[in-house]
Amino acid sequence: MEQLLQTLPREAEMMRTVWVCERPFTTPAFYGTYPHGFLSKALALFDGVKDILHCPSGSVTGPGTTVDLIRDENRKPQILASADALPFENDSFDLWLADPPYEDKDAARYGTPPFPLGGMMLEAFRIVRPGGYFGMLHLYCPNYNYDHWNLIGQVAVYTGIQNYVRLFSIFQSRKGEAK
Ligand SMILES: C[S@@+](CC[C@H](N)C(=O)[O-])C[C@H]1O[C@@H](n2cnc3c(N)ncnc32)[C@H](O)[C@@H]1O
Repeated sequence: MEQLLQTLPREAEMMRTVWVCERPFTTPAFYGTYPHGFLSKALALFDGVKDILHCPSGSVTGPGTTVDLIRDENRKPQILASADALPFENDSFDLWLADPPYEDKDAARYGTPPFPLGGMMLEAFRIVRPGGYFGMLHLYCPNYNYDHWNLIGQVAVYTGIQNYVRLFSIFQSRKGEAK
C-alpha cells in the first residue's frame, strides 16, 4: 500500500494515450515486426535525441545502432549481442527502444533462449545517459527499479480486431539525480 501511494503522484503526471497502428492487409516478412507506423510515432516523441539504440532490433535498420542476438535474412543488426550484456560504454545512448519476445514461446520462434528482461533493464540503466530514455513495447509494463527510472509514459497500441493491445512503456533514467 505504501508503495502504491508513492506511485500515484508519478502516475498522475505521466503521459497516457492510445495509438492506432492498424496494419494493411499484408503479411509482414518478419514475425513480430513493429505495428504499422509505430516506430515513427515513437521516434517523434523523442525529438532532439542524438544517439538511439534499437535492441532487440529484429528487422529494424535504424535510425541509430541496431543490436540483436541473431543475424539472418530478415534480421541484419549492426552488432550481435544479448540485450543484457552489450558491448557499449556506460552512458552511451540518449534513447533505447526495445521490442523483446514477449513470452518463452515467442523466443523459441525466434530461435533464442528465454528473454532476460530484468537483465535488459539493468543494462539499460547502465548505458542510457542520465536523463535519457528507455522505451519498451510489450504485453505489460515491466517491474522496474524506482531508484533507476521514472515511468513517464504509457501508450496502448491498438493494431486491429482480434489482436491483443500492447503497451509501450516509457522510462526516464534517474541516474545522477540527487537523492
Ligand atoms: C519482437 S522481435 C523484434 C521485432 C522488431 N521490433 C521489428 O520490427 O522487426 C524480437 C527480437 O528479439 C531478438 N532477441 C531474442 N533474444 C534476444 C536477446 N537476448 N538479445 C537481443 N535480441 C534478442 C530476436 O532475435 C528477435 O529479433
